[in-house]
Amino acid sequence: MINKLVGLYFSPSGDTARLTKRVAEEIATRMDDACIENLSVSYIDLLRNPLMEDCTFDEETIVVIGIPAFTGRVPLPCVKMIQKMHGKNTMTVCLVDYGNSSYGDALYELYTFMEDQGFSVLSAGAFVSQHVIFKKIAACRPDVRDLQKVKEFCELTSRKLHRFCGTMIQELRAKPAPLDIKGSIPHKAPLRLPLHPTPNKHCTNCGACAQICPMGAINLRDVRKVDVRKCISCTACIRACPEGARDFHGPMCAASGLALEKLYSKRKDPEWFL
Ligand SMILES: Cc1cc2nc3c(=O)[nH]c(=O)nc-3n(C[C@H](O)[C@H](O)[C@H](O)COP(=O)(O)O)c2cc1C
Ligand code: SF4
Ligand code: SF4
Repeated sequence: MINKLVGLYFSPSGDTARLTKRVAEEIATRMDDACIENLSVSYIDLLRNPLMEDCTFDEETIVVIGIPAFTGRVPLPCVKMIQKMHGKNTMTVCLVDYGNSSYGDALYELYTFMEDQGFSVLSAGAFVSQHVIFKKIAACRPDVRDLQKVKEFCELTSRKLHRFCGTMIQELRAKPAPLDIKGSIPHKAPLRLPLHPTPNKHCTNCGACAQICPMGAINLRDVRKVDVRKCISCTACIRACPEGARDFHGPMCAASGLALEKLYSKRKDPEWFL
């Protein structure tokens, strides 16, 4: 019998976490039929508690996994962690949060990686939030219309979940048909942005940025030193800084911002596949 829902998210600046929790809670409140009783909901923050060892999500669990699109791809740390996750035809919802430019191949990759690890992906959706680097893009997202769309997606997902979990006997549960998600698995490594946050004069050298960095790119002894070969520009260090001292700087950032704000000013609405 399905008895728990686990939400997993990698969310350097917090939007994907909010989306994942919203979806998980919306689904949990709709799971009240005889086969799904006393559903417990828990979360794994893959940035603060990265998976170091293999872990299995059994057939009694619903998984909701959320990642941000980074240059249209699944962020590198997530690829490595997904390889440690194992499903047993575990019913799964895949989410990508992106900044109104393009989610590219990220949703397709996430879906394929999860299926390859033994998860049965029931539904997948791409949702828009304010762009974490170029903040004028999608500045007020998610808005009321987005939140309504999240509810719609959760309603459709829950109906499908009811159909597939309508029996307590795992062997009798059908496997969802493949989803026709846009994208492919690129052979190239994801593009790296030439933007790397650095601290200003308000830095107290507390080390919080170095501790949170998922790539170990910040020098622990001198936080001004960033290994640009490792940094994926994820923004976790910016958000973790208690002094607000860390950010992207320089003419490259300003110039790209101006160009991209124009290019991606047209609203994109959430898209989903089920
Ligand atoms: C390194 C990096 C690459 C990004 N690439 C894209 C992209 O390709 N398309 C897009 O629409 N948004 C892109 N974004 C914006 C994020 O996907 C978006 O801001 C997302 O909400 C961030 O999630 P978080 O708040 O959970 O960190 C990128 C952000 C970063 C930091
Ligand atoms: S140094 Fe780069 S990879 Fe590390 S947290 Fe900051 S932006 Fe992310
Ligand atoms: S978190 Fe902020 S204040 Fe602390 S070391 Fe990093 S940049 Fe400096």
